[in-house]
Amino acid sequence: MDRFINNPAFEGIEPFESKLWLSSPTMHGDEQKWVDEAIQTNWVSTVGPNIDEVEQQIAEYVGVKYAVGLSCGTSALHMATKLAGEKLYGQAKPNQGTLQGHKVFCSDCTFDASINPVAYEDGEAVFIDTEYDTWNMNPEALEKAFEIYPDVKLVIIAHLYGTPGRMQEIKEICDRHGALIVEDAAESLGAKYRLNGQWVETGTLGNYNAISFNGNKIITGSAGGMFLTNSQEDAEKVRKWSTQSREDAPWYQHEEIGYNYRMSNIIAGVIRGQIPYLDEHIAQKKAIWERYEKGLDDLPVSMNPWDRKNAQPNFWLSCILIDKYAMAPSVRGEKDYLYKSVSGKSSPHEILEALAAFNAEGRPIWKPMHMQPIYRMNPFITVEGNGRARSNAYIEGGGIDVGADIFRRGLCLPSDNKMTPEQQDIVIDIIHRCFK
Ligand SMILES: Cc1ncc(COP(=O)(O)O)c(C=O)c1O
Repeated sequence: MDRFINNPAFEGIEPFESKLWLSSPTMHGDEQKWVDEAIQTNWVSTVGPNIDEVEQQIAEYVGVKYAVGLSCGTSALHMATKLAGEKLYGQAKPNQGTLQGHKVFCSDCTFDASINPVAYEDGEAVFIDTEYDTWNMNPEALEKAFEIYPDVKLVIIAHLYGTPGRMQEIKEICDRHGALIVEDAAESLGAKYRLNGQWVETGTLGNYNAISFNGNKIITGSAGGMFLTNSQEDAEKVRKWSTQSREDAPWYQHEEIGYNYRMSNIIAGVIRGQIPYLDEHIAQKKAIWERYEKGLDDLPVSMNPWDRKNAQPNFWLSCILIDKYAMAPSVRGEKDYLYKSVSGKSSPHEILEALAAFNAEGRPIWKPMHMQPIYRMNPFITVEGNGRARSNAYIEGGGIDVGADIFRRGLCLPSDNKMTPEQQDIVIDIIHRCFK
């Protein structure tokens, strides 16, 4: 870190007194009121008025009939994926997941919680490459995947960093192939998408939908998630599964595997205090994204993009992609990295280290799932077809891999909505100096 602090190239910049976070909780005071009320009235459990209230408020905000409060976004995604598996392949045995023997097409540039439920349910994830236009699933690669694996009936799609994917095309492809969609809107609560000419919220675009209230999300409960649906039957099933699958009997009676996935009324109290500020948080995040776009426009970088005609992101995280020609040499191993400082160029780790030296948090782009050690042998499909084993010792060139390229050249910038414009200008200055 000394190499930045004592470096003349960074002269005049002082470390931030308190850390600038990537995205931290922003409390407003009402959270305390609802938590206190829960404790005073002894609703300290996985039932209570805060849960009922946040389920209703989120269902209304997003525009679905039912929202089921769960312990986290991951459990919501598990329930969504399991429902899809049962719908497609029937009720599972206790020792056998609903997706056993089946492939599922999955977003590749996402957090692993999006797609781990496929493994929980004993299915095999097939990763679909990313497009440069939204950093989400490429519909053309999805179409290719259906050519290669025509029997697949389930697609899991995430909206990375709060930017909606190209859902019009993806839904049309899925409809044509009779496939269901699990939508992971964990990062995109409040983002809107124009579907068939109508603006709708993310979290309504799949057959089974999930959101998250994790501490780093656009609003938070410290933890928590929700399953969103218009189907009363599905909502009731998720309520049952998430409370240990109890049958209607005087004793504990079980015909299905159960889970302890229900939301706590204390956590729901925090969420209840946050919901009124969702739109305010989105406006703050948008202003941050726009300030970066303007402040960095003279550098060889571009911001995480979005479809300006058909999408309104929630701008959860602001990110940059370094132009190919301006990438300084850098390599990554499984845990370590090395980079070289080159005048006029930079690399994600140089910028991340510089930010860290001045007490600001950035992060590498989420490493694509097809590159993760655990999923390294799973199929990966690009716009060219099979994305594995593309190079040839005797022929120059290799295959396209957009996710790997965005991971290599991109990074997430401090995007906390408590960051002041003055602080953000210093972050922008630090990034400029990395390219000097
Ligand atoms: C895309 C995505 N999906 C799922 C999750 C999981 O949500 P949770 O942490 O609430 O389990 C997260 C983040 O945490 C996420 O970013």
